[in-house]
Amino acid sequence: MGTKLGKIITGEESPSTAEFLFVIDNPIVKKGQYVEVNSSGQKFFGYVSEITKSNRYFERPESVAEYERNGSMNEKFPSDSWEYSVAAVKLLGSFKDGAFIRAFIPPSPGSDVHDAEPEMLKRFLGFEDDGLLLGDIEHHDVKARVSMTRLFQKHVAILAMSGAGKSYLMSVILEELLDRPKEKGRVAVIVVDIHGEYIGFRHDARYGGATKIVDGSEITVPLKKISPSSLQEWLPNLSPVQREVLSDALIGLRIGRRESGDRYYSMKDLAEAIEASDKTDDAKSKKALKRALGSIKALKFITAKEENPKMIADVKPGHLLILDFSTIDDLRKKQILVSLFARKLFKLRKKGKVPPFVLVVEEAHNFAREKAEASEAISKSVIETIAREGRKFGASLCLISQRPVNLSTTALSQCNTHIILRVTNPNDLEHIQMSAEGIDSRIAKSITSLKVGEAILVGEAVNYPTFVKIRKRKSEKRERGKPLHEQAIEFENSQKKKDEGVEAFL
Ligand SMILES: Nc1ncnc2c1ncn2[C@@H]1O[C@H](COP(=O)(O)OP(=O)(O)O)[C@@H](O)[C@H]1O
Ligand SMILES: [Mg+2]
Repeated sequence: MGTKLGKIITGEESPSTAEFLFVIDNPIVKKGQYVEVNSSGQKFFGYVSEITKSNRYFERPESVAEYERNGSMNEKFPSDSWEYSVAAVKLLGSFKDGAFIRAFIPPSPGSDVHDAEPEMLKRFLGFEDDGLLLGDIEHHDVKARVSMTRLFQKHVAILAMSGAGKSYLMSVILEELLDRPKEKGRVAVIVVDIHGEYIGFRHDARYGGATKIVDGSEITVPLKKISPSSLQEWLPNLSPVQREVLSDALIGLRIGRRESGDRYYSMKDLAEAIEASDKTDDAKSKKALKRALGSIKALKFITAKEENPKMIADVKPGHLLILDFSTIDDLRKKQILVSLFARKLFKLRKKGKVPPFVLVVEEAHNFAREKAEASEAISKSVIETIAREGRKFGASLCLISQRPVNLSTTALSQCNTHIILRVTNPNDLEHIQMSAEGIDSRIAKSITSLKVGEAILVGEAVNYPTFVKIRKRKSEKRERGKPLHEQAIEFENSQKKKDEGVEAFL
């Protein structure tokens, strides 16, 4: 049992199986603190939901006003010693015969209330000694060590406004995943890094060896590796006839080349095959199809021969593969690459050819948008597919977003753990509340007052919504691009040189 905090008193409708009041005799009691009570042969667990103070001397306005007119109440009476603090506790359950259950009877008035013991609290919240160390919980000496399996068995959403600490938290999670020893089970981690925020891992003394960065602008995919259905996904506005022509031409190339022994073919070959196709004689339609293909060609990642790099080779247990997309401007290209890679990853996972993995998608609302036009929904279907089917195969998603309202509800609803950091926008808050079970109005309210680096964990990974102060990261932080002040200095220096050049010339 932890330190004694007070004694249960009788309230109007308490103690009940939902709540009780206790009069505080220890000043360490804080709102949000977990407490335990031994009563009726079981151990009750709850948290302090509110603290109120009372003082008999100040109950009646007319007498307080009268006494104050002729001096001070506090001088005339021992009023200070009549101040009491009463804590309201919400019961979370009870511990009986080695298991946590709901409370079926209330604890008795007069029972002592104690600070929750760290060991019990750990078990109550569902932390594990070899779990991922995310940070500390409030008011107690308990580390938030979340079971990797419970967190990533299904999928995770990290939601918060911009600047609240999502990417920082993700870095902490990456460190924990990379630090895991083989015996405890290691997953492969792939990060779709939109802003080049994770590249520091490659340069870090501790994690660099296990990290590989792929520059998105250098990725090339041979046309022969691209299926007709992929091309159709990227060109959603094609007519049924155009689709048929396209897939016929592509399949024709594949078979023809295989027979002739030359396995390679280019976008130019495809355009020619379309031209020659007898599936339609509508020249206009063919031309429009070629133009559409031209827009894919312009993204400059389809080649005739080389696949560069062979990313799948870097999907290894305990390793981190960073797809640095900060070098790509075009959203469609990013979506196409995510779609291609995620499909391949999932397919190989189903065949057992790659290890169980966690695919982290930053700015997930851009890759699985709720109300996207077809041309902007390219990677949505694969993300939704993994969201729905991934858990059976150890294919886990970690979706990070500052615009949860725009994130596919199909994908979001499959995220069984939500980690929520600061959110102030009421629309986002409402959306988060609807999409995550277990967020009651108390928790929703506290989300708006979270500080940077403070999070609430809800769902599968914990037994009860838990406040966590995210720990400091161990890895080096390094970002693509220069900080603003360096850019400004560089600009002024270059201006100065120009001026000097002009002066010298004159
Ligand atoms: N747990 C934390 N501890 C210390 N600083 C943090 C923490 N979380 C975030 N920060 C600070 O806040 C800044 C913004 O965090 P970031 O993760 O980039 O936000 P987001 O990805 O949500 O936009 C970071 O540069 C970092 O300095
Ligand atoms: Mg971020």
